[in-house]
Amino acid sequence: MHDALQTLGLKVSEADQPKLTRIDLLDQQALPDHEVWVDATAPETMISAIRALKVRGAPLIGVAAALCLGHYARSHVPEAIQLVALALRQARPTAVNLMWAIDRLMQLPAEAMWPEALAILQEDINLCQRMGTAGADLLANGDGVLTHCNTGGLATAGIGTALGVIRTAWEQGKELHVYVDETRPLLQGGRLTTWELEHLNIPYTLITDNMAAMLMQQGKVQKVITGADRIARNGDSANKIGTYSVAVNAHYHQIPFYIAAPYSTLDATCASGSEIPIETRAAEEVQGVVQAQQSLRWAPATAPVYNPAFDVTPASLISAWITDQGVFTSAEALYGSGPV
Ligand code: MRU
Repeated sequence: MHDALQTLGLKVSEADQPKLTRIDLLDQQALPDHEVWVDATAPETMISAIRALKVRGAPLIGVAAALCLGHYARSHVPEAIQLVALALRQARPTAVNLMWAIDRLMQLPAEAMWPEALAILQEDINLCQRMGTAGADLLANGDGVLTHCNTGGLATAGIGTALGVIRTAWEQGKELHVYVDETRPLLQGGRLTTWELEHLNIPYTLITDNMAAMLMQQGKVQKVITGADRIARNGDSANKIGTYSVAVNAHYHQIPFYIAAPYSTLDATCASGSEIPIETRAAEEVQGVVQAQQSLRWAPATAPVYNPAFDVTPASLISAWITDQGVFTSAEALYGSGPV
């Protein structure tokens, strides 16, 4: 067995013999109270882990799916690889990083897929680092920074997108205070961003999503930074449900609203946000809380529910996109930036 390759949310134990290689995920549904690692080497386990948000966050979904496919390709025939690639692609619809990673592998011969998957993992670490450096300059000493969902080491292979920017600025010595939207209905902010910030020792306050406007009114928020799951050619950016309201509130209060995302989140095939497929999820997630360890329902089980997992923030509400290629204030410049 070779040394394990480990990120905050993912572990690859590599061996010369493909059969002995394992891909483990930190089960994000069990956090923050339980740190449980699950073996997701088999495609069916990986697909259900992606659907159940045991592994989540646009870049990390892409990395995890690439590793699973790349490993599978080491010992299966092309027809079987095609089927697994399709099933992985369909596991979640909105984060384009998933399709980007699968497509990148499927252009290659089977034997090249595993090394490419490992290269995607390494590349994501580097992309996060660059976003962090590019975005940190936008944050000033003393800023209150509001963020939505989880965009850190649990959502990527590296330091994160929006949270990576915050972390980099903090490590540069800037005094910041992070306001963490809990992010209904699945509480990625309340469960995961809090957990990461605790570990990083960065000061934060957890708020419910409907408190953000009041905090802005009180002058506590100087910047907003979120991630994205897919950015259309005109700059419209899909991210966790609730991001759009945060952007509207930031606009009203004249607070800069930034999106941090790597080039793997750009989708030139979508002309605008209206073409971005939006995942809808189970009614139970809104009727109550469904977690790995417990579930509690407060609405009638028959309550009709609409549960879109993402919304689209129009480009006009976005002050700038922070990418691995720098900071861009227009969609034209963003799309002109090209890949690394
Ligand atoms: O449903 P999730 O938890 O996968 O949604 C994640 C987000 O919306 C993140 O903000 C996004 O993936 C960008 S994070 C690096």
